[in-house]
Amino acid sequence: MTKPRTLLALNWKMNKAPTEARAWARELAQGYERAPVELAVMAPFTALYGLKETLPGGVDVGAQDVSAHESGAYTGEISAAMLRDVHVTYAVVGHSERREYHGETDAVVAAKARRAQAHGLTPIVCVGEGLDVRERGEHVAYTLAQLRGSLEGVAENVVIAYEPVWAIGTGKTATADDAEELAAAIREALREPYGALADSIRVLYGGSVKPDNIASICAQPNVNGALVGGASLKVADVLAMNAAL
Ligand code: G3P
Repeated sequence: MTKPRTLLALNWKMNKAPTEARAWARELAQGYERAPVELAVMAPFTALYGLKETLPGGVDVGAQDVSAHESGAYTGEISAAMLRDVHVTYAVVGHSERREYHGETDAVVAAKARRAQAHGLTPIVCVGEGLDVRERGEHVAYTLAQLRGSLEGVAENVVIAYEPVWAIGTGKTATADDAEELAAAIREALREPYGALADSIRVLYGGSVKPDNIASICAQPNVNGALVGGASLKVADVLAMNAAL
């Protein structure tokens, strides 16, 4: 099986105003050498347009969420068509922070992913278990159930991010073996809806990824990149991760 191209996806979360984002992109451009990996920045909505204009060519931008609705009376929502209009490539859906703080269910996540695809965006669908589930040893079954629900009716132009909630922003990283266990299980589960195309779908790991652990995690046979939060904010860390891959 040939591995799909590695994706280094940065999730800035609610950090960086548009001016800070552009300064970050200018700093990146000074040290960035296009590696064999693909680099994409998931920025706050307000930063997307200026960021895409400032980033070095070949670096993509993504949104951290997208509306499940097409258009109309949905105050505060941002549609997939609006994102496409400012040259956005990816939309993260179902991040654990949205599931936890905004009550997003698997059905809502799937609806957002479908809407993103309808406008030519690639959804990055996030799944992963909390600490209680992990301690009960039910992490594989839990994550796969979440995956199936979140992919209902979703086409194969999708990226999956396995992010165990207990490893997000805690400094506790899953081991490379933990990441591979779930990535392999996810790959197997993807065969059901997508058949042989499952091999070309990228499965990322997220949760306290840093310059010193990214290489061993991404070297696992079923891990095709990382979704990075905290370590994505400083250009030096991003250049170090890019170089390590
Ligand atoms: O989406 C990325 C994420 O939730 C992981 O965050 O800060 O642990 O790298 P962090």
